[in-house]
Amino acid sequence: MRGILVAAAVLLSLALAPAYADEPIVIKFSHVVAPDTPKGKAAEKFKELAEERTHARVKVEIYPNSQLYKDKEELEALQLGAVQMLAPSVSKFGPLGIKEFEVFDLPFIFPSVEALRKVSDGPIGKELFKKLEPKGIIGLGYWDNGFSVITSNKPLRTLADFKGMKMRIQSSKVLEATYRHLGALPQVMAFSEVYQALQTGVVDGGENTPSNVYTQKFHEVQKYLTVSEHTYIGYALIVNKKFWEGLPADIRGELESAAKDATSYCNSIAEQENADAMAKIKASGTVEFITLTPEQKAEWRKGLLPVHAEMAPRIGKELIEAIYKETGVTATQ
Ligand code: LMR
Repeated sequence: MRGILVAAAVLLSLALAPAYADEPIVIKFSHVVAPDTPKGKAAEKFKELAEERTHARVKVEIYPNSQLYKDKEELEALQLGAVQMLAPSVSKFGPLGIKEFEVFDLPFIFPSVEALRKVSDGPIGKELFKKLEPKGIIGLGYWDNGFSVITSNKPLRTLADFKGMKMRIQSSKVLEATYRHLGALPQVMAFSEVYQALQTGVVDGGENTPSNVYTQKFHEVQKYLTVSEHTYIGYALIVNKKFWEGLPADIRGELESAAKDATSYCNSIAEQENADAMAKIKASGTVEFITLTPEQKAEWRKGLLPVHAEMAPRIGKELIEAIYKETGVTATQ
């Protein structure tokens, strides 16, 4: 009798196994930028490693340029399980009710990529990822893009130049506060809508990394580019929690290592990708470059650091101070 039961159990599991055995597990990876960017290339790297290391038991389908979903929609789609993986800018978690990630948007909070890395790859980065889990999301790594430049249709040299300017921002209250602090008019807009909004004058300008400016051709519909490096754009590689925890353990192990190596890859190419994009924008001759003098940059810092204190009640004073400890930045200098 016992023998028959065991045999029946084995048969049953075999009957059920084909679901994973035959069909590859599909990971839909949606993102909003062009393939020829740090994130675009890192997503391809993840695909390559994931399929290789799982011997094609996993198939990664990448949807760049907001093909499947725009900024806001892609996070909802991830929570619903319509897609399994994303790498959104950490500036976009506020609408999910996770305000703390907006600390990354504070002006001049990261003096260098090294300082940023201490935060993202250290205890602070891990603590922040824990805040995603109640939303049905797991964080796998922090992917770099880089420090921002500002494109505009009039020259921006001093903070006073921002008065009355309509500036496109990501969906972050910290970015909103920064531009209001400058007397500008911030407008939250999906990334895929920015080019047209700049072209038609719905907005006068916006901040982004050189690789996004170049690959989205923002420089072709703007007159000036200010090299401010006042904020940083970076990403969180995230997956749907239910999907991830439902994977066979061996597969999840391989995907974790693929994610880890794709993260190192992204962070190893980001700076050069942005330097190359900057050179291409310069070579295009479409925009006039404004490089802040050290005195002007000090003026910007002095003028924008008060945003830290202003946003501390929203983000958390302790979190900001914990980052100061890692980066050596303070609220006054
Ligand atoms: C933006 O919205 O400007 C960026 O976050 C887009 C991206 O993912 O780099």
